[in-house]
Amino acid sequence: MSDINIAEAKEKIFSRGFLDINVDPSLDLFAVIEKLKKEKNAILLAHYYQDADIQDIADYIGDSLGLAQEAEKTQADIIVFAGVHFMAETAKILNPDKKVLLPDLNAGCSLADSAPAPEFAKFKEKYPGHIVISYINCSAEIKALSDIICTSSNAEKIIESLPKEQKIIFAPDKNLGAYLSKKTGRQMVLWNGACMVHEIFSLEKITKLKIRHPKAKVIAHPECEDAVLRIADYIGSTTGLLKFSQKDDAEEYIVVTESGILHQMQIASPNKTFIPAPPTNNCACNDCPHMKLNTLEKLYLCMKYELPEIVMNKQLLTASKKPIERMLEISRKYGL
Ligand code: 13P
Ligand code: SF4
Repeated sequence: MSDINIAEAKEKIFSRGFLDINVDPSLDLFAVIEKLKKEKNAILLAHYYQDADIQDIADYIGDSLGLAQEAEKTQADIIVFAGVHFMAETAKILNPDKKVLLPDLNAGCSLADSAPAPEFAKFKEKYPGHIVISYINCSAEIKALSDIICTSSNAEKIIESLPKEQKIIFAPDKNLGAYLSKKTGRQMVLWNGACMVHEIFSLEKITKLKIRHPKAKVIAHPECEDAVLRIADYIGSTTGLLKFSQKDDAEEYIVVTESGILHQMQIASPNKTFIPAPPTNNCACNDCPHMKLNTLEKLYLCMKYELPEIVMNKQLLTASKKPIERMLEISRKYGL
């Protein structure tokens, strides 16, 4: 690999959002990443939707809540986030004095993008007296406009922790919001956002799969549309789905979420069969294109050069921290 200096690396990051350098194909990336972790006192946090090789080398693999909790308590000097931008940003908000790295700054999220802050601020003005609960899949600017953040593992408890008469705006995921309204019996004003991966699962194809695998249980993420959730045997966050598949006694599961989670399901239950749910067309749309921007090569370069880094201004860091802390506090109270 051709080595470059930090100034050149910064220049490259500026133009591409990730380091585009040829990596020697004979390099044992697992070994060098492990070495860099130790040398730099860095922790590697990975979401379940990452490629299997990234999951295999991570210090912690989890859902959005678990990752935020792990980021909150880490003693490492550097947090390397194998996930998407809003996740790394959350880690930075919780650790303003630590270096937080994301292998590819372009790893965004269609759901977070569906809620631009200026539009959301205007929307919020139309509903005075409402508390804003925002799903963690949103920008720091949206977090700063929110009262409490939630994830799919704690949203129900967070809603139920509020007085019954409290009016609520839920953003940005309309599918999760509708699911939570149904579960808690609370009317909420919903922002009209959705995830491009979860919205595209085909009810028709899942139903056909179910006919071919009559004993298979359908397990789905609550970011899916209502029609899909109605046929699910279990609905939960990625950690919820994984735990359910471990404890439950079925032998086959149709998994309606991003396909990366199948790696941990298969490790935890090697004798069970996990079938990824098909999307509406023949694309690989059950792979999140944002999550999959991170690669082992980019991860290595990011750790070597400590770039790209999440940088935020102080005002935004402070304003977005409060609603995240409120979420973590409520989660602790309920043992989540
Ligand atoms: P969880 O892992 O918190 O269930 O979220 C899923 C997701 O879409 C993350 O982007
Ligand atoms: Fe965003 Fe959906 Fe990808 Fe999760 S799976 S990061 S919600 S686009």
